[in-house]
Amino acid sequence: MKIFLVAGARPNFMKIAPIVRALRAESREKSEKELSWMIVHTGQHYDYEMSQAFFDDLELPTPDFFLGAGSDSHAVQTAKIMVSFEKVCIDQRPDIVIVVGDVNSTLACSIVAKKLLIEVAHIEAGLRSFDLTMPEEINRIVADSISDYFFVTEKSAIENLVKQGKPKERIYFVGHVMIDNLFYQLKRLEGEKLSQFATYELKKDLENYVFLTLHRPSNVDSRETLLGIVEALNEISTEIPIIFPLHPRTKKMLDAFGIKLNKRVIFLEPLGFMESLFLWKDSVMVMTDSGGLQEETTALGVPCLTLRDNTERPITVEIGTNTLAGNKKQDILNYFWQIINNGKPGAAIPPKWDGKSAKRIVDVLTRN
Ligand code: UD1
Repeated sequence: MKIFLVAGARPNFMKIAPIVRALRAESREKSEKELSWMIVHTGQHYDYEMSQAFFDDLELPTPDFFLGAGSDSHAVQTAKIMVSFEKVCIDQRPDIVIVVGDVNSTLACSIVAKKLLIEVAHIEAGLRSFDLTMPEEINRIVADSISDYFFVTEKSAIENLVKQGKPKERIYFVGHVMIDNLFYQLKRLEGEKLSQFATYELKKDLENYVFLTLHRPSNVDSRETLLGIVEALNEISTEIPIIFPLHPRTKKMLDAFGIKLNKRVIFLEPLGFMESLFLWKDSVMVMTDSGGLQEETTALGVPCLTLRDNTERPITVEIGTNTLAGNKKQDILNYFWQIINNGKPGAAIPPKWDGKSAKRIVDVLTRN
């Protein structure tokens, strides 16, 4: 069996790392003919900080194929990935293509594989925000509509897939590979020399702080919306400083709109996985519009305020530490103070978020 493991953008790298470890372990017990696997990096993200820094931090091997797609409009980027990926698939004839998450690479590579009659395994299948203005929602729907294996992280995903007529025996509730990665890296962090991080002194100097990430087009591409969020952040930062690693999209939009943040909002370059974890795990609260951080904060019990109206990961709100604030100034401020004053009592870790998901996935793929 030959498996392709596809990754293209920053959030994918965290998800393939535990699968690589599980595949390595499985390969030790099998011949190359019985099991071989290759990593395909589409090049959707390419800056050192957005890609190679993660390969280094997550101990990922150099990809077997690098497609070099780069940034462009959705159509151009998706098309470039499809054209290059098709060539590699025709040349290598994998039996299964594993795609993770919901980025353009997930969409592009699942379509290519399926049209070449190669089985598609979607990890993090079935999640739905029901918001078709999100490009990721379209990617999720398309990938799920043609996948053969659905590996799901939470019960809402099972319900969504069943409603769409997917066969129950193809839906595998395995937990979350991103949480496998989180627990693994947290353990590694305990053995690291923390003073290696450029932010070591900053963290030591701050009594408490909020950790912020922001990059969704719906939050940063409109001046009015971004300004409202920034006004809320400026007000919050007069009470508690905010550490803010800047995504390239957000940097571009803040510059284009000429929007300024207060000095107590501390800008950083995009961070590697370990340094980001080092900072957010001890923050008083994470504010974010990322999908992954909503889940990671729930897994570590850190309060999370999500700057979106909806989430495709409802378990984080139902039993986790996540609260949806939307992106309007007054709502952000109200929810912020509510959490600072009252917390979110009774938060728990979702079922099967136990660090063993990648092994479950590899077991399913190699026994079928
Ligand atoms: C993409 C994903 C999103 C994911 C996010 C994580 C899709 C549709 N979107 O959005 O789901 O949450 O990644 O970061 O797949 N850029 C750089 N360097 C890079 C990559 C991008 O400077 O290495 C710039 C691009 O030129 C562009 C901006 O960042 O101006 C946004 O990049 P893009 O790939 O369009 O989408 P993301 O917002 O990163």
